[in-house]
Amino acid sequence: MSPAYLPARRERLAAALAPSDAPLVIGAGEPVPLPEGSDQTYPYRAHAEYVFTAGGDCAGGVIAYDPREGAAGWRSFVPPVTEAERVWCGARPREGEDIGGFTAWLNARAGRRIAALGAPVPGVEADPAASDAARLACAEVRRPKDAHELELMERAVHATLAGYARLPELIRPGITERALQIELEAAFQHAGADRTGYGTIVGAGPNAAVLHFEPSERAVAPGDFVLVDAGAEVRRYVADVTRTYVAGKPSGFQRDLHAAVRQAQERAIARCVPGAEWKQVHLAAAIDLTAGLVGMGILRGQPESLVEQEVHALFFPHGLGHLVGLGVRDASGLARGRTRDPRPSLRSLRMDLPLADGFVVTVEPGLYFIPALLQDPARRARHCDTVNWGLVDAHLTIGGVRIEDDVLVRAGGPKVLTAGIPQALA
Ligand code: GLY
Ligand code: MN
Repeated sequence: MSPAYLPARRERLAAALAPSDAPLVIGAGEPVPLPEGSDQTYPYRAHAEYVFTAGGDCAGGVIAYDPREGAAGWRSFVPPVTEAERVWCGARPREGEDIGGFTAWLNARAGRRIAALGAPVPGVEADPAASDAARLACAEVRRPKDAHELELMERAVHATLAGYARLPELIRPGITERALQIELEAAFQHAGADRTGYGTIVGAGPNAAVLHFEPSERAVAPGDFVLVDAGAEVRRYVADVTRTYVAGKPSGFQRDLHAAVRQAQERAIARCVPGAEWKQVHLAAAIDLTAGLVGMGILRGQPESLVEQEVHALFFPHGLGHLVGLGVRDASGLARGRTRDPRPSLRSLRMDLPLADGFVVTVEPGLYFIPALLQDPARRARHCDTVNWGLVDAHLTIGGVRIEDDVLVRAGGPKVLTAGIPQALA
């Protein structure tokens, strides 16, 4: 039986595609074999645009829609279950029409421009303009989360919370980053996760300043920062959370750095209201973080002016966040008609759009001591007057702090979905 939420979701997409007459094809994609030519594949994830319109994964599946046929124009083609799949994987019959019928569907629409989403579908010659328009429409429809999506996200958050609840007792000198990852991920799965939503990040000491650090066998040392960025996935919906701890007693400097990030995050979350421009929320957080660094004596000057000079990017070299839900970046990107802001500190923002009711956004400010940036002679020369380089050099291996929560934007005010995960440093 097709899930009850699908008709409304497809209706919203059909309305967003109008008045285009182009038939729409959305491919799930095929499993990708490992390069060595064995019978193994990379873990399969159907394209998010397929999952959104089909209500689940199905390798080789195709969703097709003909706008001339209204609500009856939605079709779902799936590959028949083979004997080998039944024998090796215990595959069950799939709901949908046999994929063999897709060619006839396509041929019946010969001569019309086809809009293609998802993974490429063999035999489909996509019209680039119609496909681009459909992709934008689909992103706009995906951004506000429906009740079913929010329920799956709640389950992902629940599992994530169970994992983070284990950390305070585990973070002690001697435990390795890898051991922390294993315990965290096991707890996610015991609490209902299918898997993690992205590669778990655990960085101790200087590794806490590596934005996407892959946990190593490094043992946590007394007084280390330990940064953990991880989230559970449930039926393709993910949470994305970061907490930073100290193993043992935090120094005053560590406390101040953590407090600066925490305060900037609290203020940024309050700004997550419908209509707020994400770029402005990002810039306001950059100013708050910079004010924190000025307060600590690391930077000199007016925070607004320092951000204009892009000094903040030495310590906060990433965007404030992104949409999260169906995948860790969900349908982030640019609002209709926008191009990337070319300013060095803004061109890597994962999105540039106004927030709206129902969006779920990560709010993840951070302050890091990254030797690759802070030891760069050109940057040191450019910012020689505004940075207290002596103080920076004294803390070059301290790592960094990031705090990240998932926030539901609502007309009544932001709701922090991950508020149950304590932010305490020690
Ligand atoms: N949680 C990792 C990231 O957002 O890049
Ligand atoms: Mn994130």
